[in-house]
Amino acid sequence: MEGKVALVTGAASGLGLATAKAFAQAGAAVALADWDEQAVKAAADQLAAEGYQTLAIKCDVSDDKQVEEMVSKTVQAFGRLDYAYNNAGVQNELAEAADQTLADFEHVNSINYQGIWSCMKYELQHMRKQESGAIVNCSSIGGIRAGAQRGVYHGAKHGVIGLTISAAVEYANRGIRINSVSPGLFQTAMSDKMIAAGQKEALDAILQAVPIGRLGRAEEIASTVLFLCSDAASMVVGHNLVVDGGLTI
Ligand SMILES: NC(=O)c1ccc[n+]([C@@H]2O[C@H](COP(=O)([O-])OP(=O)(O)OC[C@H]3O[C@@H](n4cnc5c(N)ncnc54)[C@H](O)[C@@H]3O)[C@@H](O)[C@H]2O)c1
Repeated sequence: MEGKVALVTGAASGLGLATAKAFAQAGAAVALADWDEQAVKAAADQLAAEGYQTLAIKCDVSDDKQVEEMVSKTVQAFGRLDYAYNNAGVQNELAEAADQTLADFEHVNSINYQGIWSCMKYELQHMRKQESGAIVNCSSIGGIRAGAQRGVYHGAKHGVIGLTISAAVEYANRGIRINSVSPGLFQTAMSDKMIAAGQKEALDAILQAVPIGRLGRAEEIASTVLFLCSDAASMVVGHNLVVDGGLTI
């Protein structure tokens, strides 16, 4: 990926940070975007100290204007945009359907669903000029399965796959491939928060059903995203790659 430019949202921690690192290690210049300005700057500075080319961008992906600026800043700094991993996401407040609040619905959807839509829109405006590029959107196993008390999150993640495959058919013959990744259970701040919120038992129960018998490591999503962006995946279009240790089979 020497000479290429990658953009990662939600890059201050977890799956996003691991993927930003992997892009850098593969030779790409990397724009790391996150709404946590301090954390994303620290992450970009750390990678820069290791000799990689990075740019930190404060961006709330639920704000369409900020997303437009995020993509512009990336292109201004590095001259092009080859790869994007649209990863930023949040969990919903656990509640059965009758008790879910409009505020939580709007919060989760503005980030997990509308955020992906905004990111793709502005990334594609550059990629279609270049007639090249690869985008990976972050869905979840929640995007292909039911989840009691998680309907708000699962609905948004199902939507991510719809946005992905629809854009994929539009741009496949213009040199741009768009795919999604569906992580299973990964060890990140998000899973740590579940444990802190008293959901450790629920997590353990789910882990018992995972054939591989463990949480995923963030690097295992990073390597999947890099594969999907790389020329090794040149015929892979509109695919939702499930990375879950066998959980959903
Ligand atoms: N960890 C898992 O087990 C798991 C499983 C399936 C899917 N996912 C998905 O993977 C993605 C990354 O999750 P993670 O586990 O690394 O979580 P994480 O909480 O460790 O990281 C998410 C990052 O996104 C940032 N972020 C949140 N809202 C944002 C916004 N509006 N604008 C910009 N940045 C924002 C956060 O600041 C954080 O740095 C999410 O989309 C999540 O739904 C995670």
